Amino acid sequence: MKRTLESLDPAAIEGKRALVRVDFNCPIKDGVVTDATRIRAALPTIKYLRDRGARVVLLSHLGRPKSGPDPRYSMQPVVRELERLLGAPVVFLPDPASEAAATATRRLPRGGVALGENTRFYPGEERNDPALAERFAALGDFYVNDAFGSAHRAHASTEAVARILKPAVSGFLMQQELRYLGEALHHPARPFVAVLGGAKISGKIDLIEALLPRVDAILLGGAMACTFFRAMGLETGTSLVEEDRLDMARQLMAKAGDKLVLPGGAVIAQRLEPGAETRAVRRDAIPPGWAMYDIDPATEHAFAERIRGAGTVVWNGPMGVFETPPFDHGTLAVAHAMAAATAGGATTVIGGGDSAAAVAQAGLTDRISHVSTGGGASLEFLEGKPLPGVAALDEA
Ligand code: 3PG
Repeated sequence: MKRTLESLDPAAIEGKRALVRVDFNCPIKDGVVTDATRIRAALPTIKYLRDRGARVVLLSHLGRPKSGPDPRYSMQPVVRELERLLGAPVVFLPDPASEAAATATRRLPRGGVALGENTRFYPGEERNDPALAERFAALGDFYVNDAFGSAHRAHASTEAVARILKPAVSGFLMQQELRYLGEALHHPARPFVAVLGGAKISGKIDLIEALLPRVDAILLGGAMACTFFRAMGLETGTSLVEEDRLDMARQLMAKAGDKLVLPGGAVIAQRLEPGAETRAVRRDAIPPGWAMYDIDPATEHAFAERIRGAGTVVWNGPMGVFETPPFDHGTLAVAHAMAAATAGGATTVIGGGDSAAAVAQAGLTDRISHVSTGGGASLEFLEGKPLPGVAALDEA
């Protein structure tokens, strides 16, 4: 267990500068944040600190700038969105590694908030450079990591700084993410069902291997099912198949036995475009020239039943090309089944990324026990890999 924000004495917070690593890596279009989910998710930690008289100094990365400062990846649109959500001014620190930034944090009033420019504008960030971490550490009197979405990165603002600035504790979002994902993985109510999708098995092999001994079933959809179909010797038409993973698929099937549940059928089309002519066929009846773009209604039904009967469900990856209707049907069916399972008392967890977007699209986010804010981070957590941003925090 890691030390938490609530474990800090009020006197250790009041008037002190809290350096908080958040993950405000939000989509931005024309200088405006288009999805503030990650900002909203960090508000409880920010509010807690402000209410206790801390001066709150926030750091985050945004996107993947390649060579130094780049206005396309500036945090300034995030400053505006954060001001709107807090209803309070936010001081922008254009160069958070500078002496001037450290001075500005000391001038913040109690309850005041500042946000630094993109940490990835410094080459030392991704190198986990201790010298850069020292400079970040000068912005605070203690450190809070609430950036679950970046916890799988060993970067200066997530890892090295936590070894320098003490105490180093977890924020509320970080705690909530670790609790839901950890409970699912280590103490699941049974049956424990994992729903996995996406285009390629190559990115999910570690996940499948890690989940197999823990779950009662893995329901597998998405184009990656086609690699398994081909490995079974079936015709897959023009579907996406990873030829170099066929042996791997065979080994996984042999190892998993009944636990691995593949789609019994597919929704196929000759072209991937909205309104294309589609057919629902059994998996052994995909004709040449046609490709699988979704699971078929019979599979939707079968998967939904398994999900509704589960005690714990973890979902990662869409069942089809959900951004191109009508191939969103299977993914939306899983989203609805997850909501129904939650209402029936199951714990449902969505591992960020595309599945989170699908649940949001279906308007069901509030009906899921936990929708992770970290795609890559939740994947690595479920694969059983240590998260460096968490490992560096103080032990409770
Ligand atoms: C994410 O969006 O998954 C996190 O913010 C991490 O971003 P990264 O993959 O660019 O490190």
